[in-house]
Amino acid sequence: MTQTIGFIGSGAISSQVARLAVAAGMDVILSNTRGPESLSALISELGNRARAATPAEAARDAELVVASIPFYAYSKLSAEALAGKVVIDTMNYYPERDGHMPEIDTARVATSELVQRHLSRSRVVRALNNMDWVRLRSRARPVGASDRSALPIASDDAEAKAAVSGFLGAIGYDAVDLGPLADSWRSEPTTPVYVLPYLGTVPSDVRPEAARAWFLQAPGAPVSVQQVKTLVARAVRHERMFGDVGPLPGAAI
Ligand SMILES: NC(=O)c1ccc[n+]([C@@H]2O[C@H](COP(=O)([O-])OP(=O)(O)OC[C@H]3O[C@@H](n4cnc5c(N)ncnc54)[C@H](OP(=O)(O)O)[C@@H]3O)[C@@H](O)[C@H]2O)c1
Repeated sequence: MTQTIGFIGSGAISSQVARLAVAAGMDVILSNTRGPESLSALISELGNRARAATPAEAARDAELVVASIPFYAYSKLSAEALAGKVVIDTMNYYPERDGHMPEIDTARVATSELVQRHLSRSRVVRALNNMDWVRLRSRARPVGASDRSALPIASDDAEAKAAVSGFLGAIGYDAVDLGPLADSWRSEPTTPVYVLPYLGTVPSDVRPEAARAWFLQAPGAPVSVQQVKTLVARAVRHERMFGDVGPLPGAAI
């Protein structure tokens, strides 16, 4: 049976994941705040495996749901509509975008733990949060390719983690198990596995006006299973695991 992937949020990340999922033979249901009509261009690009719906419909009709909205809105995700579902949490906390959220002391709680608390009847898997939206599509590779990359995943539910591993595998990535959500801080912003390794070498002399163009076309670099393991082992927890991605210019992550 064809797998159906629902998307809450249809921005940079969801649209790339939807493209990869459709290319892998899956059906996708996309949703956002502005309503299905606003997604007509993306749906026609994706073809007859794609449809637009409300967030509640996307949750109800999918086997696996990708929640990819600004982190400030995580508490607006419908716990009711997502009950019983495996939910991929791609969300990162950026105070300059999300506003300061005092409940987040990242030295104590990982953002995905908050999402799991809110979606108490869903099985949350943190994944697809540590690669930028351009490389996410361009670095996808089939099983066995020598330059296939790996992505970290974390969840409190082994079955959900296996389902998401399978999904990542089908869209072009190996998965590295970080353990439970309490350990998912190891892929949050500022950690060694966050975005930069997949971008490859960021030129130090790129002019601000050229930064966006560079970001949009940079080929990136493969990050193997072993490299991901090494990078996540190197992560150090601190109280400012949010914010920008250092030298990465012009990117909305
Ligand atoms: N961009 C990256 O490279 C990147 C990489 C890894 C992780 N992330 C994280 O992934 C998340 C999404 O990032 P993005 O870049 O894809 O964001 P984006 O392009 O700004 O898209 C956000 C989407 O969320 C929708 N949305 C907002 N509130 C919603 C709600 N309450 N219910 C349903 N849909 C809602 C928006 O719909 P409307 O437009 O209709 O309001 C829009 O479709 C963020 O938390 C980000 O930190 C981003």
